[in-house]
Amino acid sequence: MDLFQAIKERKSIRAFKPDPVPREKIEEILRLVTQAPSAINLQPWEFIVVMGGERERLSRRLIKSYHEKQISCSPGNVKPLADTFSKRGVESFELMNPYLEQMGAQFDRFINEGSCNFYGAPVAIIMCLDNAFSKARLVDIGVGLGYLVLAAYGFGLATCPIGLITAYEDDVKDVVNIPENKDVVISAALGYPDWDSPINRFKTPREHLNSFVRWVE
Ligand SMILES: Cc1cc2nc3c(=O)[nH]c(=O)nc-3n(C[C@H](O)[C@H](O)[C@H](O)COP(=O)(O)O)c2cc1C
Repeated sequence: MDLFQAIKERKSIRAFKPDPVPREKIEEILRLVTQAPSAINLQPWEFIVVMGGERERLSRRLIKSYHEKQISCSPGNVKPLADTFSKRGVESFELMNPYLEQMGAQFDRFINEGSCNFYGAPVAIIMCLDNAFSKARLVDIGVGLGYLVLAAYGFGLATCPIGLITAYEDDVKDVVNIPENKDVVISAALGYPDWDSPINRFKTPREHLNSFVRWVE
């Protein structure tokens, strides 16, 4: 598959078929992910691939904790955000609403319970970072996530990054036995897209380059 085409076409998928993904395919994807650059080639990423009954068990626990704690998907800012940023998030999610209406789904429930359920994907990949590393190494995990979503797309698979699980890190660690010294940084739902679901017709817009770039010469 053409790289530029993959970059343009890839999008987060929020309805998956239950069909399992062969382990060999997941291994091929992860081998490509580990080709990603990392500072001093530290390759600091660690992956936990959760499938089958354990994936279901993880989601049951996350949904239970979500109902108890009600921590929702959010930008996670530590200071008030500039309007430009908050507007982008709100606008993108507003564009999702017509598709959710077709499904008779309510936004908060769909996004939060859906995230906890990895949107029905048969595979959840959890990316961890040893807490001996500085926060600067989160960049390397982010680069890895970028490779992961594109590599999966190249295999005809779909993904949705799921950051919400970090709000329920203790539950995640408990269910899949992650040691105390590993931080849960991000996860991704992985599987085959359900193209019959209206939500998968949704694609987020992007702003003009001028909104992001300042040239210095
Ligand atoms: C770090 C990170 C965390 C994310 N967490 C979630 C999440 O918890 N739930 C969700 O539905 N989407 C999540 N997403 C997906 C974003 O909403 C999505 O990437 C964004 O809206 C742009 O859409 P696109 O991926 O289709 O291009 C996350 C994406 C990233 C990069």
